[in-house]
Amino acid sequence: MMITFLLNDRLIQTALSPSTTVLDFVRYEADLRGTKIGCREGDCGACTVLVGTLKDDNMEYMSVTSCLTPIANVYGKHVVTVEGLNLDHLNKVQQAIVNHSGTQCGFCTPGFVVSLCGYAITSGKNPTYSEAISSIDGNICRCTGYKSIERAALEITSELCQKDPAHPMEWLVSKGFLPEYFLTVRERLSSIPKIADISGKIPVGGGTDLYVQKFDDVQNIDLKYLFDRSGLRSVHVENDLCTISSSSTVTDMMTSESLQRAIPNWLDSMKLVSSTPIRNIATVAGNLANASPIGDLTIILLAMNAQITLANENGMIRKVFLKDFYKGYKKMDMQDDEIIIEITFDLPEKNTWFNFEKVCKRQYLDIATVNTAIGMTMNHDIIISAHCSAGGVSPVPLYLRKTSSVLSGQKLSVELIRRAAEILATEIAPISDVRGSSEYKRLLLRQLFYSHFINMFPFMFELKELI
Ligand SMILES: Cc1cc2nc3c(=O)[nH]c(=O)nc-3n(C[C@H](O)[C@H](O)[C@H](O)COP(=O)(O)OP(=O)(O)OC[C@H]3O[C@@H](n4cnc5c(N)ncnc54)[C@H](O)[C@@H]3O)c2cc1C
Ligand code: FES
Ligand code: FES
Repeated sequence: MMITFLLNDRLIQTALSPSTTVLDFVRYEADLRGTKIGCREGDCGACTVLVGTLKDDNMEYMSVTSCLTPIANVYGKHVVTVEGLNLDHLNKVQQAIVNHSGTQCGFCTPGFVVSLCGYAITSGKNPTYSEAISSIDGNICRCTGYKSIERAALEITSELCQKDPAHPMEWLVSKGFLPEYFLTVRERLSSIPKIADISGKIPVGGGTDLYVQKFDDVQNIDLKYLFDRSGLRSVHVENDLCTISSSSTVTDMMTSESLQRAIPNWLDSMKLVSSTPIRNIATVAGNLANASPIGDLTIILLAMNAQITLANENGMIRKVFLKDFYKGYKKMDMQDDEIIIEITFDLPEKNTWFNFEKVCKRQYLDIATVNTAIGMTMNHDIIISAHCSAGGVSPVPLYLRKTSSVLSGQKLSVELIRRAAEILATEIAPISDVRGSSEYKRLLLRQLFYSHFINMFPFMFELKELI
């Protein structure tokens, strides 16, 4: 089968395996060596490219790590490498980096240029410096020092404040942010015919887990590509029931206005998950089905008491509570021919409190040492129901059954929280590993459990009352 997409200004049709990474295609088939290979694990951002998708007659661009993206996932889309951003002189982003001495060896620079051009395209009416910095949260530079790159980001932001909201793409072209061919992309993509779903045995969403864990095998695995499968990509609320289709990305969840309205600190919690280019492709089903004991979305959804819907090849559908899904280390209540199609949970009501805590070795772009979430529905000071979860303290992402049950139906008090923390200690079995000793993880989870209450009820509890 032929995978068709636009690579910069050029139409590509390739018979290479759909599992080939965009990175390998770009460097070794198209011979565009500006896109660099640093880690091949999504950690460094040297391989960042933009992917533009035609949606409702508009182009939507996002940055992605090309080392983890199969070419099947860019079918019918616009892939932009640093070469595709070049003009016959430096573009505005490149010039800003030069103006502020934001490059030394230059290895990371194409990645930064691509991410900042992505920010230039996606920035709205009032672009902010903090949005510019967030756009490069997946890019690492080992030699320049970030201050000069940050100053370049500031210069770009002040230019973008002038952007014409009625004709953003034309403005970006006229001001030298982007080459002119960007204005033809929408039309060119609309003429690429749709293809049937590429079916195989092993499901793959964004690939951010599979391509890291099984990179050497991935060429030989018969993959079932779900990222663009129709009907699997929406975050939808009806009658206070939230339904997240399985290929929705972390970014889709993060930017959902319904979730932002219903869940306090939703944006801040989501920003703790990986980095912008990973969040743009990492799917919720991938997070649940990789069964990592520290998956952030898994821990959050356990505390929402979420249900998942599975479908097999014959269209048989069944539902299972997420808290009953994990049977042992990387073992799930899911048959080989089943896939997750959606996740549902009751949107927190006004009297429901929610909190997520995550501690890692560094604040951003790191997986958790320990993470935990809690959802509690209250009637004044009585806890009607509680759902509490913890990661990094057991072979599975753990729903804390006893702790949740001891809280439910009780009056909220310091004594109750202390008692619940004691019960919690009996439910976990952390192991010592590179992320910390078992004693440390125990202590950490207890403190994070206390943090839930301090954050949810700041006027009720002082830290010293709890510890
Ligand atoms: C640099 C980096 C940083 C990361 N940081 C974090 C982090 O901070 N927090 C965190 O939680 N995770 C993190 N991750 C892990 C990963 O990004 C997430 O778990 C992500 O949600 C996986 O989604 P995916 O679509 O990329 O999964 P994929 O790699 O596509 O798939 C993962 C697994 O799920 C299966 N699968 C995929 N879709 C389905 C489906 N619909 N039904 C059944 N099975 C399915 C696949 O077969 C595979 O076994 C990070 C990864 C990287 C590379
Ligand atoms: S090569 Fe490091 S993120 Fe892709
Ligand atoms: S300039 Fe050398 S790694 Fe960034």
